[in-house]
Amino acid sequence: MTRKIGYARAHTNIALIKYWGKKDHELFLPMNSSLSLTLDAFYTDTQVIFDSSFAEDTLTINGELQPSDEINGLVRFLNVIREKEQTDLKAHVISHNIVPTAAGLASSASAYAALTGAIAQAFNWQLDHQALSRIARRGSGSATRSLFGGFVEWEMGVDDETSQAIPIDDAQWDIGMLVMILTRQKKDISSRVGMQHTVETSPFYTNWVETAAQDLKQMKAAIYRQDFQTVGELTEHSAMKMHATTFSANPPFFYFEPETIHAIRIIQALRKQGHHIYYTLDAGPNLKVLGKRSELESVRQALLEHYSSDQLILTQAGPGMRQLSADEWASLYPTREEDTSHDH
Ligand code: DP6
Repeated sequence: MTRKIGYARAHTNIALIKYWGKKDHELFLPMNSSLSLTLDAFYTDTQVIFDSSFAEDTLTINGELQPSDEINGLVRFLNVIREKEQTDLKAHVISHNIVPTAAGLASSASAYAALTGAIAQAFNWQLDHQALSRIARRGSGSATRSLFGGFVEWEMGVDDETSQAIPIDDAQWDIGMLVMILTRQKKDISSRVGMQHTVETSPFYTNWVETAAQDLKQMKAAIYRQDFQTVGELTEHSAMKMHATTFSANPPFFYFEPETIHAIRIIQALRKQGHHIYYTLDAGPNLKVLGKRSELESVRQALLEHYSSDQLILTQAGPGMRQLSADEWASLYPTREEDTSHDH
């Protein structure tokens, strides 16, 4: 019997310069380089078990076995791994998404970064985080960046070997993020489908690609000089340009809900009053507000006039992927049948 087990934790990340569009769907090579901030408050812990007695791949999230017709993406990723490892072992993946509330912010970024770390431990790969980022990329583009903490660039590269994450700055300065949970509605167009549709149909898409390159350059310069205002302005601009490609797609679509616009108005008003804050949003209606860490608590207080405290999650820069020991896992997630069973 062959049995290989690994464990890892990875935090989610929010892009300040967005990734939006693929030029290679098989390899997940993006149309533009992107840059994100890894967040402290949201992460995924994952155990992977490869076992010769398993008949199929399975995925359990927060104790719930996922329907087999909803794990195609995972199976596809595991096939990439099996090909690399020259094995046909099936895997059971057990994940726990840690979010401060039922925020609906479970992300494919932390999921595939943690899974990649767990797989590396299971097969005893001696690879650095950059090499692992190239593997995580095959599961979900944004996962590439979750291998590292702080500000991270995903360099688009030209092929499988060059499209990878680069740590830019540990973000241990006066910068943080306030996540606003505006609606728990599930998104109906995934980022994967949405980005593809805009690449194919938005006349603005070429502008997106061209300006993203300039924005990234300016963003890195601003991070190096810890110029918060420029980081914030570029963040907001990148997000709105990305969303403009969805409004201009044919047929059009968008991730904004009425609550999103309402929240943007509130952020703009607070900014007028002197708060140093900027917003961004991804393939869903919730807002992420970039601010100075030292000031975000007072921003949260101001927002409490409009929102309940469980809708407002304060967070700061988080760390990169870390492999866990079996003991750590056991103390975090006391034994469940799934974790220990030796299938017969
Ligand atoms: C809007 O990484 O979820 O969050 O590569 O198809 O899995 P796939 O897409 P995904 O897209 C993320 C898009 C985004 C911007 C970003 O995170 O850079």
